[in-house]
Amino acid sequence: ESIPLELHKVRIVQKLSLVPVERRLAAIAEAGNNTFLLKNNDVFLDMLTDSGVNAMSDRQLAAMMEADDSYAGSATFTKLEARINDIFGKKYVLPAHQGRACENIISQAFVRPGTIVPMNYHFTTSKAHVVINGGAVEELIIDEGTAVTSDHPFKGNMDTGKLAALIEQHGADKIAFVRIETGTNLIGGQPHSLANLREIRRVCDRYGVIIVFDASLLADNLHFIKTREPECKDMTIRQISRAIADLTDIIYFSARKLGCARGGVICTNSEEAYLKMRELVTLYEGFLTYGGMSVREIEAIAVGLDETMDEDMVSQGPQFIAFMVEELAKRGVPVITPPGGLGCHIDARRFLPHVPQQQYTAAALAAAVYLAGGIRGMERGTMSEARDEQGNETFAKMELVRLAMPRRVFTLSQVKYAVDRIAWLYDNRALVGGLAFTEEPKLLRFFFGKLAPV
Ligand code: F0G
Repeated sequence: ESIPLELHKVRIVQKLSLVPVERRLAAIAEAGNNTFLLKNNDVFLDMLTDSGVNAMSDRQLAAMMEADDSYAGSATFTKLEARINDIFGKKYVLPAHQGRACENIISQAFVRPGTIVPMNYHFTTSKAHVVINGGAVEELIIDEGTAVTSDHPFKGNMDTGKLAALIEQHGADKIAFVRIETGTNLIGGQPHSLANLREIRRVCDRYGVIIVFDASLLADNLHFIKTREPECKDMTIRQISRAIADLTDIIYFSARKLGCARGGVICTNSEEAYLKMRELVTLYEGFLTYGGMSVREIEAIAVGLDETMDEDMVSQGPQFIAFMVEELAKRGVPVITPPGGLGCHIDARRFLPHVPQQQYTAAALAAAVYLAGGIRGMERGTMSEARDEQGNETFAKMELVRLAMPRRVFTLSQVKYAVDRIAWLYDNRALVGGLAFTEEPKLLRFFFGKLAPV
């Protein structure tokens, strides 16, 4: 048996409670069967996200004590800038309060009504920002990308043939930018390869189109490039990061995946792009040397970036996730394979074949997983989509429950408990029925919409 091994020790702990099933039943009803609306006191294992909830290191905490709190010209920001210059080789660095704030700025700067943003796959907030600026998203993930079970090592790759065809069809001037999301979130934290990025670059260069790279989930993807892409096995994590960065025009990321509570960064070598985005940062985020972040967090981000350049660090999440995926698969539970980053993803359509997508299969399963074990996952399926202009449902290509693995937070016995409860639920899946909206917000409805059993 392969057992993931923690190359760190736990020195600060937080008490958890596991409330009885009667309370869980009341809690999920109060939350409108939406796990986003549960109160954390009712949650035992919070696997909602890996965002803002990863463990911080002793070095990050120490760095936060020496932050330079000036409004303008903060030495702390200079430190972050130097770290970004060093790791990504990008000269211009803009701060924002989190990932979607970077998306707001990039979309406002580059998306015009009628333009298209080809992506390997969308993320909820990235798509919403493109759409709100009048653009359209085209997903060009390889066909294997949305196959639930597969042994393809890089399901996050973009189909570059489709990319070239799309640019030919609409003309390069209609393409706002090409967005590549590393560690592709909504298809199960699946990586792209360095070779694929190189191919995307070739296509974009042919047409003069820029590449915007969402590096929020870079840590996981770096691990997968190192371990799954033979030509990269002798490269260091730092070398892979730089090779990736050199193939992109604008990089942005959410710093919430680095153990921080807040933060986002945009960087580029293009002065023109920088100048376009700079005034939006001061308008929406704050002055250029803090951009909506606290300086303490900027210190933690700088250290977090450095720590991400360490294979012992970036391998921890993927190893725990692989353990969970493989243990569930052994028990017959339908999970996304190969294991990706971010978390373990359950295929709700095969788990609950009797619940149609119209009844939000993944949302129904997320509520049931909470009931079964106090485990909070996140719906990543049709409920996370938006209706079209006529009010019709847009059915998601995949109906998933994501059980995120906050890095260095849970122990292996907690993961084993989750496996046991989910396997029990699978054996009793006939108990789970579908859901219908009782309150349905128009924008990003999955965050605070409420549902009831049909
Ligand atoms: N891009 C990706 C790939 C993300 O995963 C996220 C956030 C964002 C952008 C937006 O960043 O939250 O700092 O505004 N993902 C979190 C998640 C919310 O749970 O998957 P943010």
